[in-house]
Amino acid sequence: MMGVILAGGTGSRLKPLTEYINKHLLPVGPNPMIVWSILKLREAGIKELLIITNKNDLPPFINLLGLGEGLNVKIHYAVQKKEGAGIADALMGARSFIKKNKFIVLLGDNIFEDSLVPYISNFKKQISGARVLLKEVKNPTRYGVPCLDKDNKTITSITEKPNNPLSSYCVTGIYMYDDEVFENIEKIQPSKRNELEITDVNNLYIKNSQLQYDILKGWWIDAGTHESLYQATKFIYGNRVEGEKDD
Ligand code: G1P
Repeated sequence: MMGVILAGGTGSRLKPLTEYINKHLLPVGPNPMIVWSILKLREAGIKELLIITNKNDLPPFINLLGLGEGLNVKIHYAVQKKEGAGIADALMGARSFIKKNKFIVLLGDNIFEDSLVPYISNFKKQISGARVLLKEVKNPTRYGVPCLDKDNKTITSITEKPNNPLSSYCVTGIYMYDDEVFENIEKIQPSKRNELEITDVNNLYIKNSQLQYDILKGWWIDAGTHESLYQATKFIYGNRVEGEKDD
């Protein structure tokens, strides 16, 4: 299976740092943020990766990672043509790389504890469709929130940043897809924030009864704000006091 890491976006919630540097190159503990995603994929045996970022941000990624030699992976790069046009728009840049394969996508600002091995293994058992990983969080309104039918282990809908969340879970930025994802992206329209939302793509999979899920066991964080970036660093160093941790 191949891996795609999305590392574009405007990083608006991390200004002024992101006026000078792409969010995914900011330090989280001893590593630039994106390195954690690469290490998680490598640990799961995924050694051929595509990094999608903004045109102007590409040179520092190449300076840092090259073709992946230093991390013992093979890295390809693609550029998101419409900067800030959303996760699903960025993902479209993976189409020629993925072709007919199944693949895993990580949002490069998602830092987490779990190994991806069992989840990828579950996805490999799926003949087709998609799989998302969920995490129980204190503040679901910041995220894509699933409505769960736990008896049947299905997601009945996902709402992006709802005012009245239908569960205490969020859909994390760890997604597994078959190649139908690209046709689904072509079917969606920009949202109110003028982005092609990955949530809308996932809802199309739900409509076809093709979305399955697992729930992360360890800590997880979207390091896209100053506070959560700080929290991510604390998690990396083993201080789990204030985070979203199951115990
Ligand atoms: C994005 C997705 C959201 C998901 C989150 C996870 O949010 O749109 O559904 O829960 O990543 O990190 P964004 O970072 O664009 O606000």
